[in-house]
Amino acid sequence: MKKRIDKILSERNICTRSQAPKLLKSGAVKANGACVFKNDEKFDTDVDVITVNGNPINTSEHIYIMMNKPQGVVSATQDNLSKTVVDILPKEMQIKGIFPAGRLDKDACGLLVLTNDGEFAHNMLSPKKHVYKRYYAKTDIEITPEMQERFKKGIVFSDGQACLPAVLEKAQDGCFVTVCEGKFHQVKKMLAVCGAKVLYLKRLSIGALELDDTLAEGECRELESEELDLLLLNKNISV
Ligand code: URA
Repeated sequence: MKKRIDKILSERNICTRSQAPKLLKSGAVKANGACVFKNDEKFDTDVDVITVNGNPINTSEHIYIMMNKPQGVVSATQDNLSKTVVDILPKEMQIKGIFPAGRLDKDACGLLVLTNDGEFAHNMLSPKKHVYKRYYAKTDIEITPEMQERFKKGIVFSDGQACLPAVLEKAQDGCFVTVCEGKFHQVKKMLAVCGAKVLYLKRLSIGALELDDTLAEGECRELESEELDLLLLNKNISV
């Protein structure tokens, strides 16, 4: 479906509709290589390639972003007290309807996916899909074989809530934890049941998609379509 260029630009947060005429007059916006000067010119975003200052803008309906979430930022769209993961997105990615697909605690860091595709997020987060998430945790005590056994059997929280079997591996200063659920504070609570306090927590992967180690904390990039498939895939882990 064709849409006015000023609407396309404002939907992608490039500028407001009232700012569009000025941007268009400057010659910064091109469609299929030709400058677009008139704000009522229409384009089909499924077919036409639109660039601003030479950079193609994402015109597909859905956007999928990988973020290396820093500590101190809330995984939400809005918060009265703290900055959110949406606040720290580059402006052109702050698209209407974008939200974090899953949580990471404020003091946790690492892989977070943001999207405006509710169905995709549902598939990724649904407990029925058993998408694995892998974390590195620094702990105040050493991991023991008994703890590993308890994780394998399935940790039960003090309120009786039972977790599915998970994998606990020893690592430098802590452990790697692999779970296929997303219960609130899950990793911290599972380790707390075993007497260990989490001092630092980083999510390393979701499904078969690993955090891009070229992204510094707070940085993000769009996901490739093959990476979306990896997000929904489970690595073969034995519990
Ligand atoms: N488990 C936690 O305890 N915290 C997170 O942010 C994610 C998993």
